[in-house]
Amino acid sequence: MTFDRSLKIAPSILAADFANFGAEIRAVEDQGADWIHVDVMDGHFVPNISFGATTCAAIRPHIKTVMDVHLMIAPVDPFISAFADAGADVITAHVEAVPHIHRTLQAIRAAGARAGVALNPGTPASTVEELLDLVDLVCVMTVNPGFGGQKFIDMTRKIKALRNMIGDRPVHIEIDGGVDPSTAPLVRAAGADVLVAGSAVFRGGSVVDPAPYGINIQAIKQACAE
Ligand code: DX5
Ligand code: ZN
Repeated sequence: MTFDRSLKIAPSILAADFANFGAEIRAVEDQGADWIHVDVMDGHFVPNISFGATTCAAIRPHIKTVMDVHLMIAPVDPFISAFADAGADVITAHVEAVPHIHRTLQAIRAAGARAGVALNPGTPASTVEELLDLVDLVCVMTVNPGFGGQKFIDMTRKIKALRNMIGDRPVHIEIDGGVDPSTAPLVRAAGADVLVAGSAVFRGGSVVDPAPYGINIQAIKQACAE
């Protein structure tokens, strides 16, 4: 995993066929996905349950790009080694989910993964100011986490503040929630480089007809280029 600020689309498999993750991942990567975003939900930190580290380990061999694991769980620390052992390239924890985020981020890096920190829409940029040398990614949530297919919440001001704060550090800014061709240009212009998209990538396609995945990914990239 080398660092750059080029635009990357990270389809969230939360919007894929849960009975067919391997084939869905291969299809969406063939269609131009840059990273694969893996949403882990516990029914406690967020009001929904998805899957855990065992599923992450099972899908790992199907991912050729970057396995980007977004933990929407509390607690985090007891599970870091399980997700690192599952082969996650990036492990992101929520600043709202843990009492000692500094310790959690250190533990993620010590486990051999890249460390990400995520901010809910109601959490200000300043909460990560003292963490920027400890992280590889800041995830700005543009929905309240827990479900795919929600309406985009404008966090442009926060993204710009983070971009300034990050300066020359090799830290990705990732946007998660409600990203589509109409919202992507706003967040890209504000300084984001990794755009998570679930419904906007998987809609209209399937493993037997994956071409829409590619069309959808290109539509987001094209909108950002205009
Ligand atoms: C929300 C998840 C997102 C979600 C994005 O809790 O973290 O990754 O799946 O889905 P869309 O793109 O449909 O908003
Ligand atoms: Zn996510």
